[in-house]
Amino acid sequence: MTQATLVYDGKEFPLEVIEGTEGERAIDVQKLRAQTGLVTFDPAYGNTGSCKSAITFIDGEKGILRYRGYPIDEVATRARFTEVCWMLIYGRRPELQELKDFREKLTRHTLIHEDMKKFYEGYPAGAHPMAIMAAMFSALQTFYPDDGDVDQNIVRVLAKSKTLAAFAYKKSIGQPFIYPKNDLSWPANFLRMMFAVPAEEYEVPREVEDALNLLLILHADHEQNCSTSTMRMVGSSEANLFASISAAICALWGPRHGGANEQVINMLEQIQASGSNCQKFIDEVKDGKSGIKLMGFGHRVYKNFDPRSRVLKDAADRILGKLGINDPMLELAKKIEETALSDEYFVKRKLYPNVDFYSGIIYRAMGIPSSMFTVMFVLGRLPGWIAQWKEQRDEEGGYRIHRPRQIYVGETLRPFEDLNTKNL
Ligand code: CMC
Repeated sequence: MTQATLVYDGKEFPLEVIEGTEGERAIDVQKLRAQTGLVTFDPAYGNTGSCKSAITFIDGEKGILRYRGYPIDEVATRARFTEVCWMLIYGRRPELQELKDFREKLTRHTLIHEDMKKFYEGYPAGAHPMAIMAAMFSALQTFYPDDGDVDQNIVRVLAKSKTLAAFAYKKSIGQPFIYPKNDLSWPANFLRMMFAVPAEEYEVPREVEDALNLLLILHADHEQNCSTSTMRMVGSSEANLFASISAAICALWGPRHGGANEQVINMLEQIQASGSNCQKFIDEVKDGKSGIKLMGFGHRVYKNFDPRSRVLKDAADRILGKLGINDPMLELAKKIEETALSDEYFVKRKLYPNVDFYSGIIYRAMGIPSSMFTVMFVLGRLPGWIAQWKEQRDEEGGYRIHRPRQIYVGETLRPFEDLNTKNL
């Protein structure tokens, strides 16, 4: 057993060093407080391993991302989304029959309870679809209060999520809901519910279906990011699957996390509107006074490149080409990337385009409005959240409620004097 030694107050304390299958090492501090009275201090958990996990491996220095050991670029170009869901959640690639059965179940559970439609009626027309998604996921628990059958609830989540998302969109544009059509694939079924109207036939273009399949897979898991950690945190209190997902959706919404994809397009539109002067924009970001960040750039873990962003940059060219779309936003994004990557500020800080930089341009080409971009992230990330929640739940020897410590820096003990309230 490898050990590290902490010398504190003239005494030596041995601490076990644990090692992962890819050679990552960590000091196990679980007994530190009992042995020394000390806690560790790591705001924003930048250097804290919060769990052992066998789902996703990232090497941020080398730009590596693997699901269950398989490289992301191979999974993204060779798999269908439903297979990736099964693999992430159940730990291995499914047999063909297992995948067939899983798809069949996902198809049978696409409808939402008719009473849920009434909730949509109550939201104001401009309601952000992420708020609707968080509320609807929480509400699912009221329709399926028995938490006993985890696999059944997993199917419900994956099957109904696309219906909930498409209904949120239809609500926002005032069109009637389109019900799922169950001879379609997962992505095609969603796209039809988004874009079909009752009066007309609608066939989902194969290129658009494939593009969505790719995007969903690229977003499917990313180990202990903010929303996934939220999922585990909430799940650790034994909150049910639907409630944990609702919390993870709220965490994803922020512009530093999944909300960045919507912000990237807003940013590009603003740059375009003010004359497409990339250098001027980059200078504004750098001077720090404006508080503007280059959205879709930077990452806590990737310090070389984000492999998802590389796949998406190539995909943007290919998909827009196939759809015959010439979007000046793509050229603008490439120019911004080039300007940033040759600038000392970004080079020194190791800031590169992340998954959110090019995804919005592809969503736009598919006809998906920017207010739905983060909802698209939710749909892709669901299998990862579920896999992480289930891995924690199934942990050998059980799991504890998440409960970090703090360093208190407030007032010390002082008396609570009576206020003279007689004349109030
Ligand atoms: N534009 C300009 N400067 C940046 C950016 C950016 N996008 N990102 C980081 N920096 C600077 C930051 O100001 C700091 O500079 P200094 O050392 O002078 O104070 C330095 O780079 C280190 O950044 P940090 O804030 O310590 O990095 P972090 O790991 O805490 O934050 C991040 C990571 C992703 C929140 C951040 O890079 C960011 O806000 N990026 C823009 C939003 C974004 O694209 N988010 C999507 C992340 S990937 C997908 C996902 O998680 O959903």
